[in-house]
Formats: sequence, structure tokens, C-alpha cells
Amino acid sequence: MIRWSKEVETGVPAIDVQHKVLIRNFNSLEKHIEEGTLTYDILREELLFLLKYAEWHFGNEERCATGCYIAELNRKQHEWYVEHFTKLYEEFKAETDWTHDKLYDWARKVHREMSQWLLNHVIRTDRHIGVCLGKLKPEDVGPAPEQ
Ligand SMILES: [Fe+2]
Repeated sequence: MIRWSKEVETGVPAIDVQHKVLIRNFNSLEKHIEEGTLTYDILREELLFLLKYAEWHFGNEERCATGCYIAELNRKQHEWYVEHFTKLYEEFKAETDWTHDKLYDWARKVHREMSQWLLNHVIRTDRHIGVCLGKLKPEDVGPAPEQ
């Protein structure tokens, strides 16, 4: 589970609210996996949401970050998420022979990889947008990542 804390806050209300939605949905997927309530339909809905909502959110965030020293890196990282997640979604749709174990193993792998990406991205990149917009102090977020 990803827990919301000061460490993931950008200090920009619109961005933080949207990050909370993404985190809530990654956590909900994890809960379904852990509690054994995951089905093909639930997984499909979660994947679609995590792809489409993230895409919408990235556009908003990129507009907020215009002119920021992190803007280009942020955009490239978003591009990776959308491309990679689209591939995963296509892989999911192309598979027609899902067994219970295969579905759970695949969901676990996707959840682990993509929720970890989100967490790293928010902490290492998005928080610099907070610095650009005067919401966080540079010393609170550490050095800017390599371009
Ligand atoms: Fe971002």
C-alpha cells in the first residue's frame, strides 16, 4: 500500500488531489489481489482507469510545470508510463486464456512495477514542480534528477 505523507506532497493542490486518486486506485487493485476478490472485469476496469486517468492527469500536470527546470524530464517520464502501460493493457487484452493464478500473478507484477514507478516519479520528479511554483523549498526535495 502506498500511504499518503508529506514525502509525496508537491504542495500544489490540484496535482496532489490527482495523485491521491491514482494512489487510491493502485491501492484498491492491491487490496483486490491480497483479498482474493480480483476478477478479469475488475482488473480490466482498474487498468483502463490507471491508464486513462493518468494520461489526463499528466496533461494537467505538464501545463502546471510549463517553464519549470523539470518540465522536459517530467514529460518524458509521463510518455514512458503511457507507452508502457498501453503495452501492458494490449498484452492483457490479447491473452484469452486466463486462469486464476495467471491473472493474479500478472496483476501482481503490473501493480508492483507501475505503483513503484508512480511513487518514485512523484518523489523524485513531481515534487520539483512544487519547488518551481514556490510551494516547497529546494532543500526539502533534494537534487533534481538527471535529464
Ligand atoms: Fe509527473
